[in-house]
Amino acid sequence: MNKDSALPDAPQPDTLEIGLRDGSISRKVFIKTYGCQMNVYDSARMSDALARDGYEPTEDMEEADLVLLNTCHIREKAAEKVYSALGRLREMKKRKAADGRDMMIGVTGCVAQAEGEEILRRAPAVDVVIGPQTYHRLPVALRRAKEGQRVVDTEYAIEDKFEHLPIAEATKIRARGVTAFLTVQEGCDKFCTFCVVPYTRGSEVSRPVAQIVEEAQKLVDGGVREITLLGQNVNAWHGTGPAGEAWSLGDLLYRLAEIPNLARLRYTTSHPRDMDDRLISAHRDLRTLMPYLHLPVQSGSDRILKAMNRRHTAAEYLALIEKIRAARPDIALSGDFIVGFPGETEQDFADTLRLVEEVNYAQAFSFKYSTRPGTPGAELKGQVPEEIKAERLERLQALLLKQQHAFADACVGKVVDILLEKPGRMPGQLIGRSPWLQSVNLDAKASQIGDIINVRIIGTSTNSLFAELL
Ligand code: 5AD
Ligand code: SF4
Repeated sequence: MNKDSALPDAPQPDTLEIGLRDGSISRKVFIKTYGCQMNVYDSARMSDALARDGYEPTEDMEEADLVLLNTCHIREKAAEKVYSALGRLREMKKRKAADGRDMMIGVTGCVAQAEGEEILRRAPAVDVVIGPQTYHRLPVALRRAKEGQRVVDTEYAIEDKFEHLPIAEATKIRARGVTAFLTVQEGCDKFCTFCVVPYTRGSEVSRPVAQIVEEAQKLVDGGVREITLLGQNVNAWHGTGPAGEAWSLGDLLYRLAEIPNLARLRYTTSHPRDMDDRLISAHRDLRTLMPYLHLPVQSGSDRILKAMNRRHTAAEYLALIEKIRAARPDIALSGDFIVGFPGETEQDFADTLRLVEEVNYAQAFSFKYSTRPGTPGAELKGQVPEEIKAERLERLQALLLKQQHAFADACVGKVVDILLEKPGRMPGQLIGRSPWLQSVNLDAKASQIGDIINVRIIGTSTNSLFAELL
């Protein structure tokens, strides 16, 4: 199906209610994105879907006719933060109404999915609530809201929302820059006991190859040089190749690497259980596939890994890392960690520190365990006191930061390829990206944005590198 055609499930004529397809009425949408990269991608696609109804994006909430909060539910207090933002938006809506201007408010994303009707009860100014799997119906929901209804649309069958979303035109893609996200997989069937994702994003679904290739090609036609494939469990992606054969993420990467002018590929986030040999060989064979892998382990203690339902041991994770490093020796590793999972003892935590020492991460994210109602972890005995979590997190982060700095320091003096992404803070400065996902500052001409150039790394700062042209 041509995704540039009209939204198929939307009755078309009454779109005039909220904007004209010929662009003669332009409305402004402000989208606030919380949380992960998938939400960043979803916000862009919502913006694309709304563009067909005459909405233009704005960075200024004051001039917005529609404000969307694209929310995240991964850790505690997320819902409360959304409710307090909605309280402020209610005041803004009242103020605008007093000036004779309408402002609609929508809540999307994982809090919308989890809270549903409750949002309408607690936040009277909200017009629409729409989940991460139903946002292709946003234009329809807004039309109903315009007629005075308050709409909650979070029920979905796993019909494919992507079939119903337009892909932005080249000009819009170009305006967004030379790197882009592309969601290939959604949801998760792993049910780690701390995690809400299987409940908010639902069970695992993979997008078909043809749809992904079409979107990747359009991104490249719009000037994109680097694509990051996204999925909550991206390496669980599976599909069917041209001869009807089963494909895993590795096969998809080999296929995407054939797209001319697509210079770089990345993917995130992976689960250790789904790192199959084909994916590892893609790291060995494909120069397009960047030597960077985000492979969360969460804990280094087998007891805790079991309680987390991670379905692998620390030794299995380490063996996997060894195999990946054998295939691609310069690969930079990144991970996620949770400290203070229920029952975690000082010994368990020491096992995590030991695993970190063994792996030697280039980068990592670490969090205090946060109880998520409805997940099995919330029911477990032995919840760890807040101050112990805080103290463990501090120790873990000190170690991870030391490794991150050591990795950056080891880059100094090396000649590397960087993709020039955007202007820097100083005039004449550009910001590029190293193969290992580091930000690199250098003096270069703005005309080079989108180019991949060879530079020498000459220094480091807290979160970035400095380079000079050769
Ligand atoms: N508490 C703390 N961290 C969590 N994460 C997911 N759920 C929780 C939770 N309940 C972290 C995991 C995951 C990352 C995206 O967020 O480390 O990999
Ligand atoms: Fe959550 Fe585990 Fe699924 Fe990742 S693999 S999304 S942590 S349940």
